[in-house]
Amino acid sequence: MKTLFRTCCLAALAALTFAAVPVLADDAGDIRLPTPEKSGGMPLLDALAARKSNRRTTGAAPTHQQLANLLWAANGITRPDGKRTAPSAMNRQEIDIAVLTAEGLYEWDEEENKLEREETREDLSDQLNGASVMLIFTYDKDDQTPAYAQVDCGFVGQNAYLYCTSQQWNCVFLGSIDRAKLARALECDADEVLYGMRIGIR
Ligand SMILES: Cc1cc2nc3c(=O)[nH]c(=O)nc-3n(C[C@H](O)[C@H](O)[C@H](O)COP(=O)(O)O)c2cc1C
Repeated sequence: MKTLFRTCCLAALAALTFAAVPVLADDAGDIRLPTPEKSGGMPLLDALAARKSNRRTTGAAPTHQQLANLLWAANGITRPDGKRTAPSAMNRQEIDIAVLTAEGLYEWDEEENKLEREETREDLSDQLNGASVMLIFTYDKDDQTPAYAQVDCGFVGQNAYLYCTSQQWNCVFLGSIDRAKLARALECDADEVLYGMRIGIR
């Protein structure tokens, strides 16, 4: 009876453990991100006053929670109709964010809150350049005109700047990136790679 009781307790404990711990990376290398934290942080006016570009972006590897929070702040869904933290011309929501870390290259799926692994033969370490994370902003030119995409990308970049400031992370928005190489890795055209942003987590 005692053994049966112990077996039942162990089975219940195992079930609880597996229910509580999400599977973080599946066989394809995709990462299911945790729910982003959507409140708190530095007051907005303090973040505006402190925002700056800082090119010393070497830093610690990002946790999945940090990535979830950063991505949601940059261009996450805020409303039942799918609208975002950043505005977009004609609500086209055309800005996609790729995430480069020392672990690899991923495409952010904002609806699934997931990072989809991009397999590439390109060595992107020169693009990451020791940063904790690099965001790469792209768009599909069938979905938006280049002029609007540039502006929409600026809003997303400013959101990321303010979030990084609120976390006291160094960051810099980048026009000088190797678009041809990044486009090969992301399987898009070079003129669909808009900007990058390197971030150093301290
Ligand atoms: C569209 C754009 C492209 C930029 N490209 C680069 C870049 O390639 N390299 C860089 O070091 N900084 C880049 N920056 C950062 C600017 O140099 C920086 O914002 C500017 O010097 C003002 O400094 P602040 O951001 O601290 O206010 C870029 C900024 C913008 C808005």
